[in-house]
Amino acid sequence: MPDHPTVEPEAGAPPLAPTLDERGLARALSGRHFIGGAFVPASSGTTFAVANPATGEAIARAAEGDAADVDAAVREAARAQKAWARLPARKRGALVAQCGAVLRAHSEELARLITLETGKALRTESRIEAQNVADILEFFGGLGGELKGESVPFAPDVLSVTVREPLGVVGAIIPWNVPMLLMALKIAPALVAGNTVVVKSAEEAPLAVLRVCELINRVLPPGCFNILSGFGPECGGPLVAHPLVRKVTFTGSVEVGKIVATAAAQKLIPVTLELGGKSPMLVFADCDFDRTVTGAVTSMRFTRQGQSCTAASRIYVERPIFDRFVAALAARVDAMVMGDPLDEKTDIGTIISDGQFAKVRAFIAEGQATPGATARVCSKLPEDARLAGGKFIQPVIFTGLPDSSRLVQEEIFGPVTVVFPFDDTEAVLAAANDSEYGLAASVWTNNLRRGLDLAHRLEAGLVQINQNLVVQANLSYGGVKSSGLGKEASLESMLEHFTHKKTIMVNYA
Ligand code: NAI
Ligand code: MG
Repeated sequence: MPDHPTVEPEAGAPPLAPTLDERGLARALSGRHFIGGAFVPASSGTTFAVANPATGEAIARAAEGDAADVDAAVREAARAQKAWARLPARKRGALVAQCGAVLRAHSEELARLITLETGKALRTESRIEAQNVADILEFFGGLGGELKGESVPFAPDVLSVTVREPLGVVGAIIPWNVPMLLMALKIAPALVAGNTVVVKSAEEAPLAVLRVCELINRVLPPGCFNILSGFGPECGGPLVAHPLVRKVTFTGSVEVGKIVATAAAQKLIPVTLELGGKSPMLVFADCDFDRTVTGAVTSMRFTRQGQSCTAASRIYVERPIFDRFVAALAARVDAMVMGDPLDEKTDIGTIISDGQFAKVRAFIAEGQATPGATARVCSKLPEDARLAGGKFIQPVIFTGLPDSSRLVQEEIFGPVTVVFPFDDTEAVLAAANDSEYGLAASVWTNNLRRGLDLAHRLEAGLVQINQNLVVQANLSYGGVKSSGLGKEASLESMLEHFTHKKTIMVNYA
């Protein structure tokens, strides 16, 4: 790997207008949190390196947040919350929708910046994320008027009503795979409901979300939305534990989700957890073959290197079409182009970090060493010398693995899927449900009676028939079993997870 100079934080503020100079923007965002409406350095003065995973080069430094920074941000959020909650709900919504419009104007800039720091391909992934972020803010922005309560029959001369009140300061901890979108799913409903927010970004991807925070702060009053960069235990831990944080929403690993939920329980505050999955895809012989092969490529999120909680990482194919399906899927993935994530020709970029790179490669090596298993290694590593230090992994399609294999049971979070033949509907349903996870599932068949029957019996928060879309505004999203607690993306998610119901009774007898 080439020896890269470290990047010194730049003194100047990031440009106001949208910029397509992602490297300049990364440097300009260096070394700062965003608290109380302004960029501020870490109170300790400490920073850590942010790298471009496609080359290994250092692109920025991020402020290393600790408990003192958390305290400053939470106090600002608590101060801002009182006035924010007193704005009419539809006014808050209108402001959040306006933030969506600002982000839309910056979407190409944000897409380029997120590509630089995560290694996701610009054309197939980052542009879509940037558009979806704006869409989520605009969707929730329209829901201010839906923060309704009820009138409750109690007694003839007692008026009894419920009102929806905000919870206070929300702490949000986000991961690196789709950081802007996963953050938007948390901040938009939280803000519209009258809460204020402190986000702890993922250490691997702190830049695009920091720019999003700055852009949103051009519209919202200072302190409503604050963001800290830093590491999990040192910065995320104090955020969950802070006495003024009244709700925590987390997306990431099961392991950390349990730590967060345990800490929240000590304060008796609610948590929402989105923790990943091992989502099955059930393919019947009567499916539309080509559409289903395309569906498998998109379902597995090969364009995101499989770094998706909803990735169809277990594919079950009815035996009469099994061989043909595996061959067609492998051919399709083989034709995908790996390369510089910023290049328009690139379909597949890189894995996010050294840690994930090592973890995914260990899974692949274990699969390849399993007796009876076949690994179809697809696509080609880029030849460009500039990318020699990049964390590229060729997609692998495994067949012949035993059910007990770690590759079948555990979330790999890489471009690796396992495919099995099946003969019997009940047996494949049992196999699909035999998982610790329950985030998503899909069924591909032209027999809608069978598809609907399976949709009801699959243990998952989201089941799709003949499609496998990513999170969509307006549709509740969230898993069962170890995949998490609570829902995101819908009106119900805003009402249930970012408000509490107060009862007010008026005795006018
Ligand atoms: P992680 O769960 O460690 O990180 C997610 C976030 O939690 C980051 O912001 C991190 O700084 C924070 N965090 C870590 N430890 C914490 C603590 N003790 N207290 C508070 N916050 C803490 O996930 P990681 O290590 O990046 O990835 C490991 C695996 O997790 C992946 O291979 C994948 O299986 C899963 N994952 C699932 C995601 C999803 O979308 N559901 C997203 C990212 C990872
Ligand atoms: Mg971790």
